[in-house]
Amino acid sequence: MKRWRTVLVGAGVRGSTHLKGVLENKDRYQVAGLCDLDIKKTNILKEKYKLSVPVYEDAETMLRECKPEVLIFVTHPDVRLEMVKLAAKYQVQAVSMEKPMAQSLAEACEIKKICEENHMKAVVCHQQKYLKQMQEMKRRIVAGEIGEIKKIHVETQPWMAQLGTHYVDYALWAAGGQRAKWVIGHAHGRAELGDSHPSPDFLEGEMLLENGVRVYLECGYLSESHHPEEYADIDNRITVYGTRGYVWAETDGYWGAFTSQTQGELLTGKEPGWYHHQEKQIQTPYYTEFADWLDDDKKIHSCNVEISYHGYEILEGMCLSALNHVRVDFPIAKLDYEPVLTRMKKEFPDIGTKPRILYDGKEPREEYD
Ligand SMILES: NC(=O)c1ccc[n+]([C@@H]2O[C@H](COP(=O)([O-])OP(=O)(O)OC[C@H]3O[C@@H](n4cnc5c(N)ncnc54)[C@H](O)[C@@H]3O)[C@@H](O)[C@H]2O)c1
Repeated sequence: MKRWRTVLVGAGVRGSTHLKGVLENKDRYQVAGLCDLDIKKTNILKEKYKLSVPVYEDAETMLRECKPEVLIFVTHPDVRLEMVKLAAKYQVQAVSMEKPMAQSLAEACEIKKICEENHMKAVVCHQQKYLKQMQEMKRRIVAGEIGEIKKIHVETQPWMAQLGTHYVDYALWAAGGQRAKWVIGHAHGRAELGDSHPSPDFLEGEMLLENGVRVYLECGYLSESHHPEEYADIDNRITVYGTRGYVWAETDGYWGAFTSQTQGELLTGKEPGWYHHQEKQIQTPYYTEFADWLDDDKKIHSCNVEISYHGYEILEGMCLSALNHVRVDFPIAKLDYEPVLTRMKKEFPDIGTKPRILYDGKEPREEYD
């Protein structure tokens, strides 16, 4: 079996998780180099996984010297396009990046275009699909337990660029790979526009999928908290309603099912959830699926750049709808407008919301007014 020559940029929290996922597919990948602006972090990873590979502070030097076939970059959202351009320059065959895929739709579009023009396969890390409760939700849907899908409701306490980007993707996935025809949206709140994952504090939108299913999405502090006592940083839920029942799943492991197979009962339960899976690795099947796609063009990865771009376009469409007071139809063809995040910074009134510190599971959560 071919082992793909692979390098990693970004040796932070998620970089370590990605590397573990690659190493747990050792017959599919061969790690050739590690890079971080902070060389101490690469050395820590090298030591942690007992690797004898060169380490770099500069991604371009690594690409030039290591000549990888696969580039994984696990950086913050402001470092995406430059990595994709580098990958194309050094004729990398495939890239794997974290979410959100960009900071504007124009940038996301350029990333997709560079990948297409250079025949580079690309994935964006919406990997929570591999969580057991998500797989089980999907299994019940595919088995027809809820009948024909009618509506999907997405709620994420973390804001658009944190978990909204994940859950719009999971809504499309749950609906069977559908595309949206149009969206409408509302957005407000300036506090998270200054975050490393800039977003309005709250975004709410509705979309119509091509198969007639409606999706309602809420991301940010006004969405319902299902478990306020725990996991404030990942509190979320996707609920899929059909003609014969409904199912839901959450990142933190909770799930529910009221279907044609549950004998009139609402079944609920909890899988180990996100923090457990950080160790037990949902990143491993993610990289198995990536290698399968690299080996066989027909086995397209479920987190491919094309569907990720559409997810980004949907969130952008909701923001545009909120700013311009119009319905937004897809595809969004003209991208030469002022970026929505720039406009929100200028146009949104200060309503006194405060930033929260999320995403490490330890920091206390600041209250909103
Ligand atoms: N998919 C998920 O479930 C999930 C979960 C958490 C975070 N994330 C995403 O993962 C990404 C990274 O998050 P993190 O928590 O690992 O961040 P982090 O700050 O811990 O790590 C990022 C690393 O990238 C390095 N870096 C930045 N620019 C670089 C460059 N040009 N060259 C080399 N190194 C560079 C930084 O020095 C840093 O060490 C974010 O986009 C975040 O949204 C995804």
